[in-house]
Amino acid sequence: MNILITGSAGFIGFHTSLKLIEKKKCQLFGIDNINNYYDKKIKYDRLEILKRNKNFNFKKLDITNYKNIFNYVKKNKIEYIIHLAAQAGVRHSLKKPRDYINSNLIGFFNILEICKKLKIKHLVYASTSSVYGLNQNFPFREDKIADHPIQLYAATKKSNEIMAHSYSHLYNIPTTGCRFFTVYGPWGRPDMSLFKFTKNIIEKKKIEIFNNGNHSRDFTYCKDVANIISILLFKIPKKRPKFNKKNLDPSLSTAPFNILNISSGKKVKLLDFIKEIELNLKKKSKKKFLPMQTGDIKDTLSSKKKLSKFIGNQKTVNYKDGIKYFIDWYKKYYKINDSI
Ligand SMILES: NC(=O)c1ccc[n+]([C@@H]2O[C@H](COP(=O)([O-])OP(=O)(O)OC[C@H]3O[C@@H](n4cnc5c(N)ncnc54)[C@H](O)[C@@H]3O)[C@@H](O)[C@H]2O)c1
Repeated sequence: MNILITGSAGFIGFHTSLKLIEKKKCQLFGIDNINNYYDKKIKYDRLEILKRNKNFNFKKLDITNYKNIFNYVKKNKIEYIIHLAAQAGVRHSLKKPRDYINSNLIGFFNILEICKKLKIKHLVYASTSSVYGLNQNFPFREDKIADHPIQLYAATKKSNEIMAHSYSHLYNIPTTGCRFFTVYGPWGRPDMSLFKFTKNIIEKKKIEIFNNGNHSRDFTYCKDVANIISILLFKIPKKRPKFNKKNLDPSLSTAPFNILNISSGKKVKLLDFIKEIELNLKKKSKKKFLPMQTGDIKDTLSSKKKLSKFIGNQKTVNYKDGIKYFIDWYKKYYKINDSI
């Protein structure tokens, strides 16, 4: 079967592609515009690894260009789409909001149109825990309202879920939205905390800790995410004619539509996370405590109930192991000598 993975040079796209490459019956078609949001080298290096496999193909394409994507999907007889390409990052959305409108709204609309015109069997796409915004009802559950995003990034992702619903309803396109909770691990994004903390501690620079360290996150290991996506792709949502329209669950529908949290379901305090990085690096950090940043969510914690009921309980990597795997990768990738 032929699968399109958008954002395949990205962090989650890379791990998801690696996971699906193992399934020999899958032909993967990766696309990415290799933007310069962070160091392109890491994107090219991820692609180098993926291209070693016969069942992985890559083309540099931008999802805002409808015609090019349409022709590529048609030519390669794509049946399934995993849509991960987007402008990610909460803080960047305050500085460059237009990037989010272009990639996350126009790009997403293009993907939906392609699903409609080329009768794609299932669209699995990236949403985010950030959609929970002002919600303080822990753990976050998909059947609760998440209508109060607190920055444009989250607003575009929430919009994706609503846009997907309209297409699932109108054109019977099965769609599954994945609300990822802080994904981390080897080949991770240089703009994210684990990467930045590790880099600065090694370089003996200060690490910036927002909200005076009073944050907690539900950290999700990258390979767990890839594994879950590879299962979800073939769990195609069906129509639910008996869906209760008087007491709406926002994450389900009469249409073939589903929204799921993808998480480890465990809360880790940011300061404990940092302690673990220090332990692995055998170095103390120099901390610069700062106030809460606009647009940041103080705590995240996800309910895993809906996902576990849907695909069975999937084992997840403990954050202490995950940090170790990341730091082992980081040192190898950047050729860091332990004695430094
Ligand atoms: N990493 C996380 O913790 C996390 C959490 C929640 C949601 N997400 C979402 O998961 C998805 C993947 O995130 P990631 O962490 O791998 O980010 P990433 O930035 O590493 O990957 C995204 C990839 O998409 C590409 N891209 C961006 N705009 C594009 C465009 N217009 N056309 C083609 N390619 C484009 C980028 O070049 C990049 O390689 C994103 O949709 C992100 O919003 C990630």
